[in-house]
Amino acid sequence: MSDTPEPVSGVKADLETLVSLAKRRGFVFPSAEIYGGFAAAYDYGPLGTQMRRNIRDLWWRAMVQERDDIVGLEAAIITNPDVWVASGHVSNFTDPMVECRECQGRFRADHLEDDICPNCGRKGTMGEPRQFNMMLSTIVGPVADDSGRAFMRPETAQGMFVNFDNVQTTTRKRLPFGIAQQGKSFRNEITVKQFIFRTREFEQMEMEYFCHPDQSLDLHTYWKKERLRWHLSLGIRREHLRLRDHDKEELSHYSQATSDVEFHYPWGWGELEGIAHRGDFDLTEHAKHSGKKLTYLDPETNQHIVPHVVEPALGLDREMLTILFDAYDEDEIGGEKRVVLHLSPEVAPVTVAVLPLSKKETLEPTAREVSSMLRKQYRVQYDDTQSIGRRYRRQDEIGTPLCVTVDFDSLEDNAVTIRERDTTEQIRVPISGLMDAVRDRLEALRPEVPSLDEIEV
Ligand code: GAP
Repeated sequence: MSDTPEPVSGVKADLETLVSLAKRRGFVFPSAEIYGGFAAAYDYGPLGTQMRRNIRDLWWRAMVQERDDIVGLEAAIITNPDVWVASGHVSNFTDPMVECRECQGRFRADHLEDDICPNCGRKGTMGEPRQFNMMLSTIVGPVADDSGRAFMRPETAQGMFVNFDNVQTTTRKRLPFGIAQQGKSFRNEITVKQFIFRTREFEQMEMEYFCHPDQSLDLHTYWKKERLRWHLSLGIRREHLRLRDHDKEELSHYSQATSDVEFHYPWGWGELEGIAHRGDFDLTEHAKHSGKKLTYLDPETNQHIVPHVVEPALGLDREMLTILFDAYDEDEIGGEKRVVLHLSPEVAPVTVAVLPLSKKETLEPTAREVSSMLRKQYRVQYDDTQSIGRRYRRQDEIGTPLCVTVDFDSLEDNAVTIRERDTTEQIRVPISGLMDAVRDRLEALRPEVPSLDEIEV
């Protein structure tokens, strides 16, 4: 039995259903399962690895490749600990933690419902909240004492602030411009019960957009719309997403204003991505602590200014979980129940499956030829096991948009059948026209994305 609440309308899977699908089909495994796993750690299987790569690449394409004003960076995960003093993470990156006096379980105070212990179920047994720092640390170097203490970065952002001057002088970018980075971050989270929604090791995709202070509010609005558009372009449905501004007391220590892109998860609305207005907090603090100037010489006024920063910050693991929730569906085909993921073609781990109708050797050369041809452009899975019906179901369940079937007629007419996942419609096409036909059908499946003006914030 699942202990998660009933799914909200529109999202058809509860957490348990999704965890089970993810494991069964090789998207996500509990980490080191043969040793009993490890709390809140997950390993990505072949399909999950591919899907993450697709999402990562789509983010990079939208944020760096297609733009003239944003450049990339890969900073060290373990860096000078002074960075985290200056950023405020050593003193402020805390969550309120409470301990149950009965069972000694520890929980985030702001995640408790009605003062009930989530472990032993008793009410009113919680002690006073105390602040718990969420940074994970390690020892660097051969001496195992605190002199070598360093932190695993809790966000990728700081690597971009400490490299502001290096990037600006080497690229000679003018304001406004951005620095983008993807990579692992680490947090010693207290509550980690929602699968890959919140883990202690996770991947972030963040962009720091440096701008003139006068432009910062408009650019905050611009990025809210642009980021919402990006999630829609990956196929997440509009009715499952919303933008929500943080209340004053919710704001992080560095933030002047933050809006979240939220998704309607089975447990309610939750943060998918944060879009923060960080003001000049980070550059000012790093300049103060490092003694180095982190300013921008405005070529128009010849004045040095400290740029303001707008930061869209997203978790890759959370994006993947969100897309899986949004795409999950159950329907009936020919009186038979099926599970189907309506993944957009760019996100789906497999774009086209090639299925010879029978395992008979006569079909294999043609099917292999078709598969090699498609592989040049698409992610292809070749499957010749079990009945064709079962193979279609398997591909539906992992979100493969198209299946190409090679049958005995193919040997005579040099044609194959394309079967579409969502409608199960089938069309016969000559092998010589297959690449064009596949391209057209995939194009038709691409999500429609509204213009910036059509998005209200
Ligand atoms: N640099 C700003 C920053 O890190 P954040 O809201 O703490 O802001 C940004 O994190 C995004 O990273 C979140 O919106 C979420 O998608 C993802 N994220 C944060 N903590 C996470 C965790 N423990 N597990 C998985 N994803 C996480």
